[in-house]
Amino acid sequence: MRIVSPDARSPSAHGAPAVLAEISAGLLAPSAAVSPKFFYDSLGSRLFEAICELPEYYPTRTEAAIFARHGSDIARAVGTGCTLIDLGAGNCAKAAALFPLLRPAQYVPVDISRDFLADAVRGLQQRFPEIGMLALGMDFSQGCTLPDGVRHAQRLFFYPGSSIGNFGPDEAQRFLRGLRDSAGEQGGLLIGVDLVKDTALLDAAYDDALGVTAAFNLNLLNHLNHLAGADFDVRHWLHRAFFNEQASRIEMHLEARHALTVRWQGGERHFGAGERIHTEYSYKYTRAGFIALLERAGFEAARIWTDPDGWFAVIHARVAAAHP
Ligand code: AVJ
Repeated sequence: MRIVSPDARSPSAHGAPAVLAEISAGLLAPSAAVSPKFFYDSLGSRLFEAICELPEYYPTRTEAAIFARHGSDIARAVGTGCTLIDLGAGNCAKAAALFPLLRPAQYVPVDISRDFLADAVRGLQQRFPEIGMLALGMDFSQGCTLPDGVRHAQRLFFYPGSSIGNFGPDEAQRFLRGLRDSAGEQGGLLIGVDLVKDTALLDAAYDDALGVTAAFNLNLLNHLNHLAGADFDVRHWLHRAFFNEQASRIEMHLEARHALTVRWQGGERHFGAGERIHTEYSYKYTRAGFIALLERAGFEAARIWTDPDGWFAVIHARVAAAHP
């Protein structure tokens, strides 16, 4: 098992100038915004694991139920012996559950939270000594350039959990096209996509009764304090999350409880009472809408599996034979 950090854009490269510049630009934008990738410091990754166990947060368990119910069908579509590239692997649990069915030749988990990933992969390698593992601690949101050592044969990008929803539709298309290009002719994609549903269900999933999602959102401020030397006081901010039906997306924001000024390395900004920092979009798709997106990105949508309520979809797509 190897763990590498192929690029310096990763926020785990503490104090990296590019990370500071990105955070600074976001905070200074007319509508302040911070990328959701900055949720995932070690505590953020653990809070996300807790979110996945909440009664209101249906995506993780619904997706798992789809894999449990249709696993052998999915494995038949995908084939065995692939190079399994797990984007946003986190604790690697989703991929590990598929190992017995997919029997990958190589497992390549990628995650921005490098140390969290390293711990997970160490345990996994002991359970599955026959699978070669190469862990990549990196930010793949701007594209995924795979280092030498990642097999070229039968590359399967695994992108579960509807993380694709963090991109807007145009960005998502660009991102998927990039995956298609690095997957190669025989490559494929196994992706989990959250579907449009009743607004009350969506709102509850992102604003749970225990306040775990609120903690996850607010923890971003602690992470920014660490990454950018900022002086955010978490107690001065509120969690806001709601489904925007027009745009078909969950929006998460942090809202200033009162007027305040935030300072960070090389910058400062005043926020009025009620002013927000946008922290995440989570786009929800219809089945047809996502299939069309995949086709625009150069994939042939082979198969789609959903739960009985039609809340979530798992899709396997192949790199299209004729590249447009
Ligand atoms: C990891 C991006 C799929 O959008 O549902 C969960 C993140 N944010 N609760 C999602 C998240 C708030 C999650 N993704």
